[in-house]
Amino acid sequence: MANILVVDDEQSMREFLSIFLRKEGYGVASRADAASALEAMAGGDLDLVITDLRIPGGSGLDVLRAARSLPDPPEVVVITAFGTAETAVEAMKQGAYDYVTKPFKVDEIKLTVRKALEKTALSRENRELRRRLEIAGAGGEILGRSPRMQEVFRLLERVAPTGVTVLVWGESGTGKELVARRLHTLSGRKGPFVAVNCSAIPEGLMESELFGHVKGSFTGAASDKPGLFEEAQSGTLFLDEVGELPLHLQPKLLRALQEGKVKRVGGNREIAVDVRIVSATNKDLGAEVREGRFREDLYYRLNVVALEIPPLRIRCEDIPFLAHHFLKKYAQAFGRPLEGIAPDTLEALEGHDYPGNVRELENLIERAVALETGGQLSADSLPANLRGGGAAGSRHHASIPPGGLDLEGVLRSLERDYVDEALRRTGGNKTEAARLLGLSFRVLRYRLEKLGIG
Ligand SMILES: Nc1ncnc2c1ncn2[C@@H]1O[C@H](COP(=O)(O)OP(=O)(O)OP(=O)(O)O)[C@@H](O)[C@H]1O
Ligand SMILES: [Mg+2]
Repeated sequence: MANILVVDDEQSMREFLSIFLRKEGYGVASRADAASALEAMAGGDLDLVITDLRIPGGSGLDVLRAARSLPDPPEVVVITAFGTAETAVEAMKQGAYDYVTKPFKVDEIKLTVRKALEKTALSRENRELRRRLEIAGAGGEILGRSPRMQEVFRLLERVAPTGVTVLVWGESGTGKELVARRLHTLSGRKGPFVAVNCSAIPEGLMESELFGHVKGSFTGAASDKPGLFEEAQSGTLFLDEVGELPLHLQPKLLRALQEGKVKRVGGNREIAVDVRIVSATNKDLGAEVREGRFREDLYYRLNVVALEIPPLRIRCEDIPFLAHHFLKKYAQAFGRPLEGIAPDTLEALEGHDYPGNVRELENLIERAVALETGGQLSADSLPANLRGGGAAGSRHHASIPPGGLDLEGVLRSLERDYVDEALRRTGGNKTEAARLLGLSFRVLRYRLEKLGIG
C-alpha cells in the first residue's frame, strides 16, 4: 500500500483529502504545519507528499525541499491557491512532480496522485537497479584481452592463494579495487574483505579507524571499538590510496604488519590479527620514498609483490572488448536493447586517450546508452570531444602564411606528431605502432631513424 502525507493548514482540506485517498486504498497521514510535516517525513516510508504552498511555520517549498532530499525521495505534489502561478512554477523548478490549483476536481487529483506514485515507484526501481549494478560492478569480473592484462591475470592468480602482501598500482580508474577484491576471492581466506580509503578519512581519526580505540581514550570515544584490522580478521584488509597515509601512522602500520598484532588507541592489550594486506596507489611510491613522504621500510613491506595495471591507452586492444561488455551491461540495466556499436563510434572510442581509464570508458558507454535513440550505439551519443577525434578530427585546413612556409619542415613535424602519438598509444611497441600508422615495421623503423627517435 502506498503511503501519502498530506500537509495543509485547512482542516477541511486535510479531511477531504484523507477520506478520499483512503477510499482509493492509500495509507494517509496529515499534518497542519511545516515543522510537524518535516518530522513526519523524517520517519521515512513515504511514497508521496501533497502539500499546500502556504502553511504556518514555513512554506510548502520547505516541505518540498526536505522531501526531495530524503535518501529515497517521494514525489511531491503542491496545492496552490488560484492566482499564485509563480510559486507553482518555482515549486516545479525545485522538483515538484506537479501542482493542482484549488479548488480542484476529484478526478484531477486522482489522476495526478496515481501518476506521481508511479513515478516514485519507477525512480526507486531504477535506484535499486543501479545499486545492484554497483555491487555487481564492485565484485565484478576484471576483463582484458590484451597481452598486458593477461600478464596481470597470471600474476594475480599465482599470488592470490599465497597470502603474500600485494601492492596494486596504476592510474585512476584502471581497476585497482577490482583486482584487490579478486585477490581476496581467489585467496580462499575465510574472513571478510574490508576496504579503507586512506585519503577519505580525516587524519585525526585514521589511527582509531585502523586499530580501534578503548572507551574514553579521546573525546567522542564513548565505547570500545575494534579497528578495521580486527574486522578483517582472517580476511583481507584493502588499504586504498595508501600513499596518502599520514607519516606519523606509518610506523604503527609497519609494526602491525611485522608483528601481526595491533593495540587499540588508549589501550595496552595486544590483539593478534591474521590479516592479508593488499594496498593500492596511483602514485609512484618509490618517488614518494625518495622525497621523504613515505617510509622506505613500510614501502618494502607493502610492496612484496607489485601488481601494475597498465593504463587503458597502452592496451588499445581492450577498448572494443570492454566497450561491448559495458554496452551489454547498461543496455540490460536500462532495458534498452541495442544491436552493438556502429563502426565510426568504435573508431572514435579507440582514438580516445582515456585519462580516466576504464572508469571513463564505462561512464562514456553508460551515458551513450542512456542517450541513444537508435538501434545501435552511434557516434552522436558520444561527447563532442570524442566525436571530433580520430583521424578525421586531426585533418588540417591548409593555410599558407603570407611569408610562405617550409613544406618539408611542416611535413616532418606532422610525421613526428603521428609517430609519437602511435608510440605513446602502444606503450612503445613498434610493431603495434606500425600497424596503427598503416606502415610496415621496416618503414616505421626507417622513419624513426630519420626523425632521430628510437
Ligand atoms: N578490466 C576491467 N574489466 C571490467 N571493468 C573494469 C576493469 N577495470 C576497471 N573496471 C571498472 O572501472 C571502474 C573503476 O575501477 P576501480 O574502482 O577498480 O578503479 P581504481 O583503479 O580503483 O580507480 P581509482 O584509482 O580512481 O580508485 C569500476 O566500475 C570497474 O568495475
Ligand atoms: Mg579505487
